[in-house]
Amino acid sequence: MLQLIEKILADVEGFKAENKEQVEEFRLKYLSKKGELNKVFEEFRNVPNDKKKEIGQKINALKQAAQAKFEALQNNHCNDDDSDSLNVDTSLPEMPMELGSHHPISIVRNEIIDIFSRIGFTVSEGPEVEDDWHVFSALNFPPEHPARDMQDTFFIERNPDILLRTHTSSVQVRMMEHTQPPIRSIFPGRVFRNEAISARAHCIFHQVEGLYVDTNVSFADLKQTLLYFAKEMFGTKTQIRLRPSYFPFTEPSAEMDISCSICGGKGCSVCKGTGWLEILGCGMVDPNVLKSCGIDADKYTGFAFGMGVERIAMLKYQVKDIRLFFKNDTRFIKQFEAAK
Ligand code: PHE
Repeated sequence: MLQLIEKILADVEGFKAENKEQVEEFRLKYLSKKGELNKVFEEFRNVPNDKKKEIGQKINALKQAAQAKFEALQNNHCNDDDSDSLNVDTSLPEMPMELGSHHPISIVRNEIIDIFSRIGFTVSEGPEVEDDWHVFSALNFPPEHPARDMQDTFFIERNPDILLRTHTSSVQVRMMEHTQPPIRSIFPGRVFRNEAISARAHCIFHQVEGLYVDTNVSFADLKQTLLYFAKEMFGTKTQIRLRPSYFPFTEPSAEMDISCSICGGKGCSVCKGTGWLEILGCGMVDPNVLKSCGIDADKYTGFAFGMGVERIAMLKYQVKDIRLFFKNDTRFIKQFEAAK
């Protein structure tokens, strides 16, 4: 009996496996129900009592050795997909890991946030799936306004009160509904419009909205804030001009142009010879909007502005096609980190 145990132990220890199949052979030969070890355990019954202790210890040692050996063999071969994989040259260098980079839209959005943070604007966000109240009604959109049309807005078919926000002005409303002035915040986010996709327009894009409500906020404050922004974003030589415009939620409303950052205002193909580039919409918050949101319009005034992040990125980096921002071609995306 002792001899038999020692022989099996020697075989177990000397066993060599080249692949998964041979590891399985080992298991069948020694550790399975009909394996050698169980045979030894069966024989153990016939061992005379006075030898049981000595032989029992040997059998246990054999069992442990066989199990340890099996685990070691498994570790060596458990990752073999097939026996051919042993031909892989494990001394070859790894596949190179490419470092990621920030998306240009994130870079520009973060820069906008940074610029406004420096003059005390906090950052808030709101939902992309909105209701009519926050996107239109509270913002003084008349019922027949074309933006409410299916052509411009993505509605949820079963419930036209639910829609994808067409602008981040909805977050102004949410902010004013739960906070009393002073409010000085910007709201970055994604917006959706039912537009044909072209080099200049996309159905998904990003905006940053700004809102400042307090006592005595004036149009001069708006102008100075935006001039500061334009100089920080496009360089200290940048000039701005405000053109009268219309938004239902601001009165008076304006569109802001910056002097063309490419030709410095002389006129080029980017500014179509005008020397100016339109970059955002703005105005004094309409008292009706303040009232809709529960703010005392006799006591407080405010200004708001909204800009497209893609538009700013296109001007800053001279990107000619907005679709490039959505293609996720890393050759394109990677170029901007250093340009920051
Ligand atoms: N929400 C407007 C747009 O999407 C921009 C805007 C924001 C205009 C705030 C005025 C004030 O075009």
